[in-house]
Amino acid sequence: MIQKRSVAIVGTGNVGVAAAYALFNQRIASEIILVDLNKERAEGEAMDLMHGQLLVGNVKVRAGGYEDLKETQVVVVTAGVGQKSPDESRLELLNRNAEVFDSIISDLDKYAPQAILIIATNPVDILTYVSQKISSRAPKRIIGTGTLLDTARFRSLLGRYYDVDPRSVHAYILGEHGDSEVPIWSQANIGGKPILKNTLLGKPYDKDALNRIFEESKNAAYEIIKRKGFTNSAIGVVIARIVEGILKDEKSVIPITVYCDGQYDIEDVCMSLPASLGIEGIKHIMSPDLNTKEIKGLKKSAAILQQRLKGMDI
Ligand code: 2OP
Repeated sequence: MIQKRSVAIVGTGNVGVAAAYALFNQRIASEIILVDLNKERAEGEAMDLMHGQLLVGNVKVRAGGYEDLKETQVVVVTAGVGQKSPDESRLELLNRNAEVFDSIISDLDKYAPQAILIIATNPVDILTYVSQKISSRAPKRIIGTGTLLDTARFRSLLGRYYDVDPRSVHAYILGEHGDSEVPIWSQANIGGKPILKNTLLGKPYDKDALNRIFEESKNAAYEIIKRKGFTNSAIGVVIARIVEGILKDEKSVIPITVYCDGQYDIEDVCMSLPASLGIEGIKHIMSPDLNTKEIKGLKKSAAILQQRLKGMDI
């Protein structure tokens, strides 16, 4: 029997809709259920997508409630508010978004206990941790989109700089999805040749130019928000890629928000490390060989996130 590939999206704001569009357009899911407090909005988005079915193929999109998620394999949570201005950090969204998570995660536990949860709402690392604490699901079944988005931005910019396919650039951003994120230069390479200190693809090593590329990746969301008010397109494809890895049981290694339980002596916090992901959720969390500065950076990310968690009643 061919199994339905059912994915639900909770929250049909800009991010939820971009994720639905990417999942639909790439035919990653065979069924997409849109859940929103504003049912009419979810219905409108479902209708709009369904009108593309002739050109995309038989992917069913419908609006639904939590009670419709009994067979859903993956639920993406995008509910909550985003940064309203370029002066607002992701961490500043915490109080507003944590409030809605209590009821969302409880409803998902009740109606979709079998599903893997992907948290995309910011601050994503903290809300992944909060979801893991609220939910009775195993932590490996609740992940956050984390720094896959930052890593995608980083590789795209490095690809443009070196005039090479970003998929041939091997470089991670790890830690917090936010201001303390860490570029892993010590492992960054193209075609097996380290980026650090080497002339690559005809470009001499230029430390300042590379640092600017990292800064541009890190601050990308602020720059986009300054111009269009929100970010949604890249996170939409990031979500689709994570869902694909789960539904196809790929076990691809990608940087995503996971529960850290001792990697680099970092414990009891959620942030991004490379992890292999399949139909059961996280299979392995990797601890790449990092230099002292990078490990220090990850510890700083962890400390910032733990500090924010301290004041919360979870
Ligand atoms: C982003 O980086 C705002 O976290 C969102 O695009």
